[in-house]
Amino acid sequence: MNQDQPFGVYGLPSAELVDVPAGAVQLSPLSPGAAALEEVAPGSLSGMVVAAPPGTLERRYVLAQALRLMPPAARLVALAPKDKGGSRLRKELEAFGCLVHETGGRHQRICETRRPEAPTGLDEAIVAGGPRLEPELGLWTWPGVFSWDRLDPGSVQLIQALPPLAGRGADLGCGLGVLSKAVLAQPTVTALALVDLDRRAVEAARRNVPNPRATFHWADARVEPPLEGLDFVVMNPPFHDRGAEDKALGQAFIRRAAQALRKGGVLWMVANRHLPYEAVLTSLFRQVALKSEGGGFKVYEARK
Ligand SMILES: C[S@@+](CC[C@H](N)C(=O)[O-])C[C@H]1O[C@@H](n2cnc3c(N)ncnc32)[C@H](O)[C@@H]1O
Repeated sequence: MNQDQPFGVYGLPSAELVDVPAGAVQLSPLSPGAAALEEVAPGSLSGMVVAAPPGTLERRYVLAQALRLMPPAARLVALAPKDKGGSRLRKELEAFGCLVHETGGRHQRICETRRPEAPTGLDEAIVAGGPRLEPELGLWTWPGVFSWDRLDPGSVQLIQALPPLAGRGADLGCGLGVLSKAVLAQPTVTALALVDLDRRAVEAARRNVPNPRATFHWADARVEPPLEGLDFVVMNPPFHDRGAEDKALGQAFIRRAAQALRKGGVLWMVANRHLPYEAVLTSLFRQVALKSEGGGFKVYEARK
């Protein structure tokens, strides 16, 4: 390993499965403040560990970028749960011309390789998994972002239920900016903060919502950016944290919305019907109303 060149890590690989050198540069778009894969100079990393993401286009994109960023013979370790892309890692790396040594237990696959002198197919994988304008959606999108290739029916249901809104608001977990576009179509909205943990989503939203009333924040909406005295919040909160269902995440979004709103301010949110949000809503808001239900979703209006 060349000590002068930084080592890269993508995501949060389990320390029980693989060693990541101290000081490794984080490159995941889900880690606010991390370096962007796209902006690292080719051949500039001494090696990489990649906790490979589950989506095929996204995973091949990340593996191709990793190979682009390392010089020949540098070591790449890629790992993933077997049922979330791990069982395909070896073939995917071999398609790039890599010789792969594969290990792992019942649930995980760990593939180790050296960057070939002349890998094949990197550019194609980078184009296929990169940002693009999707004509059918009429939106900029990026494989790996939530609902990147179709409109989420929950978000559509929330948009249909939205009343006239006015003043300053936020879209927590804005994704590609679908809700924000609908909100900013109302001229009475004076400012809207779009917040998402995924840099790719924020970059797509910037293009999808080119509006001087919009501000964009790559951040964990549970704690950042500072938001207070808002007139309204809209959201379709996440309920998965790195692949695993996590009801506490949506509940934390509700707490953040309550904290960000002024007295009398209103939260409009949609959630899958099975998620347990009523108790936290009624504990933090004066009035909670179920405004629509169907297709497996519920839309709530909650007034502080
Ligand atoms: C259900 S999606 C909704 C996306 C978008 N609002 C829409 O309607 O299409 C939830 C979004 O929350 C984002 N997210 C997940 N955890 C987050 C966090 N801690 N802070 C901010 N955004 C988060 C995800 O990246 C995803 O874009």
